[in-house]
Amino acid sequence: MADPVTLPVWAKLGAKAQELRHVHLRDLFAAEPQRAKDLAFAACGLYVDLSRHRVDREAFALLLELARAQDVEGWRARMFAGEPINTSEQRAVLHVALRDPDGPPLFVDGADVRPFIRRELDRMRAFCEGVHAGTIRGATGERFRHVLHIGIGGSELGPRAVCEALRPEADRGMEVRFVANVDPQDLALALADLDPARTLIIVASKTFSTQETMLNARAARAWLTAALGDAAVGQHVVAISSRLDRVAAFGIPEERCFSFGDWVGGRFSLWSPVGLPIALFAGFERFRALLEGARAMDQHFREAPAAANVPLLLALLDVWYADFLGAESRAVVPYDESLRLLPLHLQQLEMESNGKSTRRDGGPVSCPTGLIVWGSTGTNGQHAYFQLLHQGTRLVPVDILVAAESRVPESDERHLALVAHALAQSRALAFGRTAEEARHELAAEGLSGEALEALLPHRVFPGNRPSAVILARRFDARTLGALLALFEHRVFVQGVIWDINSFDQWGVELGKQMADVLRPVLRDGQERPGLDPATLGLLAQVRLWRREA
Ligand code: F6P
Repeated sequence: MADPVTLPVWAKLGAKAQELRHVHLRDLFAAEPQRAKDLAFAACGLYVDLSRHRVDREAFALLLELARAQDVEGWRARMFAGEPINTSEQRAVLHVALRDPDGPPLFVDGADVRPFIRRELDRMRAFCEGVHAGTIRGATGERFRHVLHIGIGGSELGPRAVCEALRPEADRGMEVRFVANVDPQDLALALADLDPARTLIIVASKTFSTQETMLNARAARAWLTAALGDAAVGQHVVAISSRLDRVAAFGIPEERCFSFGDWVGGRFSLWSPVGLPIALFAGFERFRALLEGARAMDQHFREAPAAANVPLLLALLDVWYADFLGAESRAVVPYDESLRLLPLHLQQLEMESNGKSTRRDGGPVSCPTGLIVWGSTGTNGQHAYFQLLHQGTRLVPVDILVAAESRVPESDERHLALVAHALAQSRALAFGRTAEEARHELAAEGLSGEALEALLPHRVFPGNRPSAVILARRFDARTLGALLALFEHRVFVQGVIWDINSFDQWGVELGKQMADVLRPVLRDGQERPGLDPATLGLLAQVRLWRREA
């Protein structure tokens, strides 16, 4: 794989971008009457409208040429075949296998991973059914009603976002609370009104060594044993990890441990037993439906022709904006309260994967890589940051997600308003309001002369601001699975184009190590040579205030 900037097609894309910088989406629609139809794609229950992106046919063709030049197809085949494409850690990348447990044998280090995946899935099913049926109970004989899920990063964001998304369908009488932060307030709030006798604690950590998770897990275990005694740990605590040795050392029996391979990255792990809280909350069949939706998207990604391959096209558009049109970020705005945590999951998925400046071979990248991903639900965002999106100085492509059907039938009028807003925002961003239109509007409001002229520039919307609309009938478990897999493959393709390894995360290590150095300094006031003056100054102030407290 080459540094993409050295490819002839990169220069062609640069020239094309120069040309399109001055072309308005209004002109693109005028020049290509079929555009709305040609650039709308159906995949796995999703209808994805890309027509309001600032590309013409030629730009699309060049982007597809870039994908060919970087051998996206070859890398995709290597990922699905279980080759160690996470090169800095020498690991396969097989979250896709988790949603295809009955697929043909798939070998990693000489062993077929499918039986292992099936076994853990079966164990998860049996466990969930036991909890739901009340055959698996707590130490005092009470049925479990609460799940306290302790984990951070990929061991929390994905399952939490999915649980939230499936809340309207969660009918198992279970409540799930997530604790991630090492800030003691997080656990304290979660425990405040919990009954230990009815609480199942899940400790999810791929490495089973993440400091925040282990500290919270110990504190939660202490809370449990204070109420129910040490023996309750075996019945009330479940571990999810790829490091069974460390789980055993923590005192959780093997039969209460669910496992997955190191070929699943944390931010791709919600399909593994890390998804146990989803199955407990919404039912195992919905977890299965989630996997099936994702598998359908995997199939689309492998088989759809490039020009209609939705994850591929979305990734190429990201590259287009990041590298050719100067965008720094992309907003994700779900017009769906149940998807309110999706932007947080996507932040980790995208920024931990592709926030990199080192290429696969160790050389520096020569172009901007991962976009900053941010966002929150519409319509709320409209009353917060949409001003900048419409009239600010920055280019921010937006993903707008919306469901045709409401999850709350009696609120249909409000749901129609929600959909209207979603579609209207995409339209307003793209087409804006010209000076002439603004003038008419002001005149209709009764303004004229100087007063009209003074207000006119404020009432113009430049438009030409790109967005994708991702529409679903509704984001049920299956469609949600497809949606999440779509984003995963989008991230994968971006990484291939940029020639970076999307599956490691060395950039999170330094801060962790430095925190390990500072903790004893804070606790015991130990001197520690080599600390910089700024840190010493801050430590002194913290110590002063802690002494005073
Ligand atoms: O923050 C880095 C990270 O390693 C993430 O990649 C991961 O999802 C998270 O920490 C939690 O890791 P673990 O599941 O091993 O506790």
